[in-house]
Amino acid sequence: MAGEVEVLHWWTSGGEARAMAELKKTMQAQGHSWKDFAVAGGGGDNAMTVLKSRVIAGNPPAAAQIKGPAIQEWANEGVLANLDATAKAEKWDSLLPPVVANGMKYRGSYVAAPVNVHRVNWIWANTSVLKKAGVAAMPRTWDEFFAAADKVKKAGLIPLAHGGQNWQDLTVFESVLLGVGGPKFYQDALVKLDPAALSSPTMAKSLETFRRLKAYTDPAAPGRDWNLATALLIQNKAAFQIMGDWAKGEFSAAGKLPGKDYLCAAAPGSTNAYTFNLDSFVMFKLKSAGAQQAQADLAAALMGTTFQQTFNLSKGSIPVRLGMDMSKFDDCAKLSARDFATSGRAGSLVPSISHGMAVKPAIEGAIKDAVSQFWNNDKISVADGVKSIAKAAATQ
Ligand code: GAL
Repeated sequence: MAGEVEVLHWWTSGGEARAMAELKKTMQAQGHSWKDFAVAGGGGDNAMTVLKSRVIAGNPPAAAQIKGPAIQEWANEGVLANLDATAKAEKWDSLLPPVVANGMKYRGSYVAAPVNVHRVNWIWANTSVLKKAGVAAMPRTWDEFFAAADKVKKAGLIPLAHGGQNWQDLTVFESVLLGVGGPKFYQDALVKLDPAALSSPTMAKSLETFRRLKAYTDPAAPGRDWNLATALLIQNKAAFQIMGDWAKGEFSAAGKLPGKDYLCAAAPGSTNAYTFNLDSFVMFKLKSAGAQQAQADLAAALMGTTFQQTFNLSKGSIPVRLGMDMSKFDDCAKLSARDFATSGRAGSLVPSISHGMAVKPAIEGAIKDAVSQFWNNDKISVADGVKSIAKAAATQ
């Protein structure tokens, strides 16, 4: 029985679209018809707004890219389809780390299918720009970063490619905080939202370091999309970008090679830690049998070995399914897979707040606004920045 699958997502950049095309191909090969429901905007805030109005109007798509604690909120609304039959037939419980599987379940039943693991605490660099500026190695600490950035500035190039949108500001800030305070502080401040951590001197130091970065961005940064920031590295105009590994999807789509054209490393100060961001899809309750069959086939495909490989090779992420062959993946992906495992054992694996993994969407939104206001307004003192983030964290 064939049906139509309409899938909401925000994967519209070059690398993202390449990855999404793999899913479309997979579904069409099974006889289903694909209806793309793409809402542009990195990080997905625009997509979520559009999705809400469709669901409220009683006209949900078949599937949507929803992740982290938002999965629980949607399930609690009673609008999500139960995926247990597919999960059982495909043995998901034995193919996923338990912590991942738990996040995909609501009251013990699967309501979401995971596709990947993105690492967020990365720094990317253009090798030829580093060479031109006389920077010999990737910065491992924030002091090394600022020393390298000064050299790039002197060479007349952009030290840090940034896109000034609130979610990108928060993406950079969480990596700075992780590097400054370490994984335990990150967990206390940005996951547990502990008021003592949120008003500590380490929080102030994180904001000070974050603010210092701004002088190394270019005047055109405000409003710029993240993939256009990556393009500055691809075009040899900028040295560094601090961004999750969907940026690698852009390098790959442009034919650039890691180790040769660009370098990847854990963001300064965070070598032994890992901020994770898991992409996943939920299915909405639909009536027609054809649509339900298409949803079951989509869920099975998302977790299948073929899709987990081809999709993640383009997306810049690593497979979430255990036991996958990594031989076709590049060195950045291999490093990610190693660090995901070792940080999990060491207790330094933490959920990314800027990508919907750590706290409820309402709190994330409030913190995102506070951090972004601090970034954009130099008149806000560090002490006031600390206060407004703590206040945002107390959002109900
Ligand atoms: C993240 C998402 C990634 C990537 C990025 C930029 O939130 O998890 O898959 O697409 O946004 O759009």
